[in-house]
Amino acid sequence: MTPSLQLDPQGRLRHLLTTEGLPRPLLERLLDRAEPYARASEAGFKKDPLLTGKTVVNLFFENSTRTRTTFELAAARLSADVVNLHVQASSTAKGETLLDTLKTIEAMQVDLFVIRHEASGAAHFFAERAAPGVAILNAGDGRHAHPTQALLDSFTIRRHKKSFAGLSVAIVGDIVHSRVARSNIHALTTLGVTDLRLVGPTTLMPAGIDQLAPGLSIEHDLMRGLDGVDVVILLRLQKERMVGAFLPSLGEFHRDYGLTAARLARLKPDVLLMHPGPINRGVEISGDIAYGERSVILEQVQHGVAVRMAVMAEILGGSQ
Ligand code: CP
Repeated sequence: MTPSLQLDPQGRLRHLLTTEGLPRPLLERLLDRAEPYARASEAGFKKDPLLTGKTVVNLFFENSTRTRTTFELAAARLSADVVNLHVQASSTAKGETLLDTLKTIEAMQVDLFVIRHEASGAAHFFAERAAPGVAILNAGDGRHAHPTQALLDSFTIRRHKKSFAGLSVAIVGDIVHSRVARSNIHALTTLGVTDLRLVGPTTLMPAGIDQLAPGLSIEHDLMRGLDGVDVVILLRLQKERMVGAFLPSLGEFHRDYGLTAARLARLKPDVLLMHPGPINRGVEISGDIAYGERSVILEQVQHGVAVRMAVMAEILGGSQ
């Protein structure tokens, strides 16, 4: 993934495919740009005319609750026209290819596509083939990237912790299948996190992942990995991507890596508990702490709207 596909020659964002290689000032600018949208929404002012006359199409080839709905709300709150293509009821079910689907909808004078696909690289494939001026936002491609999730996670952390410098962050669980882990590794280390721990069993830890960015370490013991951390990002165990025996059983995973109230009580009193969702209750997290005092899981969802508004405004709305 080259930054040049995402950035124009002046360094402006034209597609968002991955957080890898995005410069820190751009990441900070997107977080700054999300802040007024978040504040306005919290104050009950949800509508902004910025993208009046623009058209956004959501193309979700994989299931989604949070990402799809928040992208739709984000576009609507910026006054864009929004279309959700129902993929199962579309001509892709008759064998129309990804490229023909893109070109057909592009012919309807669309400005921006939001794409989720089970194949790593799908958003990149679209961005390489989109007409000039048509933007592609990656809403999750296979195991590869989920850049707006990483941005909303960073936004949530910054709202609570003010600065990334000096923070210790642990990402726990199914690292090998997680596009969220990869996007967070790139975003958080670029934003200044120097202690980022990947915690999980050997079978769910891809070889060489600690080489992705400086400051990464791997830990297989849960409580050693969580010792002194400021932020815990739990990952969903992605049963649908597991082919073969990654784990003896879900019960054993919960016993060794599940976050429970007793384990949470041993962490810093101001630790942030995060999860991109959807959660597997009783697997990576006990149901009783999912929306408890330390949890910001629903704030992550809420911030998803503001952050996605910021990304669309940055690409389609011109400079501030
Ligand atoms: N976090 C996330 O991507 O959730 P959805 O699959 O519900 O969009």
